Amino acid sequence: MPTAKKRATKRSSSSKTGSSRGSSTKSSSARKSSSRSASKTSGSSSRSRSQDAISLLTQDHRRVQKMFKQAQKLDREEDAEELQQIVQVACQELTMHTQLEEELFYPALAAAAKEADQDLVLEAQIEHNSAKQLIAQLEQMSPQDDSYQATFKVLGEYVNHHIQEEEKQMFPAAKKAKVDVKSIGQEILQQKEAAGMGDGAGAQGGQGARSQADRGMDSEMSDDEETTAQRR
Ligand SMILES: [Fe+2]
Ligand SMILES: [Fe+2]
Repeated sequence: MPTAKKRATKRSSSSKTGSSRGSSTKSSSARKSSSRSASKTSGSSSRSRSQDAISLLTQDHRRVQKMFKQAQKLDREEDAEELQQIVQVACQELTMHTQLEEELFYPALAAAAKEADQDLVLEAQIEHNSAKQLIAQLEQMSPQDDSYQATFKVLGEYVNHHIQEEEKQMFPAAKKAKVDVKSIGQEILQQKEAAGMGDGAGAQGGQGARSQADRGMDSEMSDDEETTAQRR
């Protein structure tokens, strides 16, 4: 994982994808420090609402969904490097996200929810395990492998299905069970910061992939993603 992170960071600062935003010319430490000062100076109530666990996890969902969508548009031969960058960042973000859910959010929901809703946690854990297997496969593959892009697409389909279940069932169940989403949100932020993925911005190496993924895709993403997830 750390090696992949380094590779992704290197690419994001040198590839064409990294130049789509002015911030990409800054070093990762400069980016980090500017994110930190931004979070220090903004203490509005809307900010604190956006930092509860459900909001933070939902922000992660949107970010990886954009990456899956972006990867599908790439040509696996001509855009191999860009594809690899997106795959690496998405896998890194998903690994962190699933770990945070398993360590913080799921146990809190399991402890607070009614018996029927506890099955949701069991199912979600099984879905995480399937996603992790695909992530492990991708980490062993190169973009030159015929099935690299297809494997990432299948991972995206699994993840979209899982996201639907979390957002339509688990998050409402957590609200109903009065899970302390604010304090879990704080723990999520602390763990992300400690892992160098702070301020909701994901991995340091993700700027290039994120710039790609963010480029003009906000409006077109959500409906398609929901449709994909609902089909499953
Ligand atoms: Fe999630
Ligand atoms: Fe999950």
